[in-house]
Amino acid sequence: MGAAGGVTVRAPAKINLELRVGPLRPDGYHELATVFHAVAVFDDLTALPAEPGEGISIVIHGPQAAAVPVDASNLAVRAARLLAERVGIEADVRMQLHKQIPVAGGMAGGSADAAAALVACDALWHTGLDRDQLHELAAELGSDVPFSLLGGTAIGSGRGERLTPALARGEYHWVVALADHGLSTPAVYAEIDRLRATGQAPQPLEEPEIGDRLMQALRAGDAEALGACLVNDLQPAACSLDPSLERALDVGRKVGALGGMVSGSGPTTVFLARDSSHALDLAVALTASGAAVDVRRSFGPVAGARLVEAIRS
Ligand code: C5P
Repeated sequence: MGAAGGVTVRAPAKINLELRVGPLRPDGYHELATVFHAVAVFDDLTALPAEPGEGISIVIHGPQAAAVPVDASNLAVRAARLLAERVGIEADVRMQLHKQIPVAGGMAGGSADAAAALVACDALWHTGLDRDQLHELAAELGSDVPFSLLGGTAIGSGRGERLTPALARGEYHWVVALADHGLSTPAVYAEIDRLRATGQAPQPLEEPEIGDRLMQALRAGDAEALGACLVNDLQPAACSLDPSLERALDVGRKVGALGGMVSGSGPTTVFLARDSSHALDLAVALTASGAAVDVRRSFGPVAGARLVEAIRS
């Protein structure tokens, strides 16, 4: 991979197998206890060298490309800029992003792009930063970005940026049901605060915790037990803002999903299947019900943001 070449990085979507949301902190974030799980829905980002002084540009392809900004607010652009600033070099790069992860879907699509840009520009610019330094930059860019770098299955605390890899066995089959619109993450967090303040959702633990049963299920590689433990404290908030999500959750229950829930802040819903043929049944039922605009089969865990291709010029 010479300086004149480009690099392609693939970054995964995530779901939260358990998402426990504590009270609002003075800094505007919520204390979390969560189990992140990277699934095989990917964004691919290619970083190509640019002329000195050209700056950062990004071109986006994929079904929802039009919904993603290409200006300085784009998370991949912000990641490239932050990395260049931190190592003291000119930020010149042409990025091409192929987006498959739903936009504003609660699957950390923006975070995946930021992680992909960090890894790609790090390789392109030969910054010499180590994994810990990239992790620090990732945490500055967003709460979920460090996990997009790490991948696999991991316990998250703090605002989600403090990670410990989880002991997990087995491969899990997921069905991902997409909505035709997004939900704003801050709006969903604000809604859970409102529901709690008005007694419409249970009060949070001061220090949220992950349940033992879920960790046991992961250690045993027991999909059935895992399905019974899936839980998301943000689900009532996402469903309150978008009551149509209940329909997809109902279909999942009726077709015997081992578990189903809203992913992160939604509106994507995810369902755990027994195996790949059960996943196909679930996907067919969800598609036929009209409760989702698009349904995808996936599996996890998968690796975090990784270099997949080096292009020599
Ligand atoms: O860190 P990130 O930029 O992804 O967070 C987006 C928004 O989600 C925050 O501004 C905040 O409103 C909300 N959030 C939160 N608590 C967290 C993570 C995110 O309240 N732990």
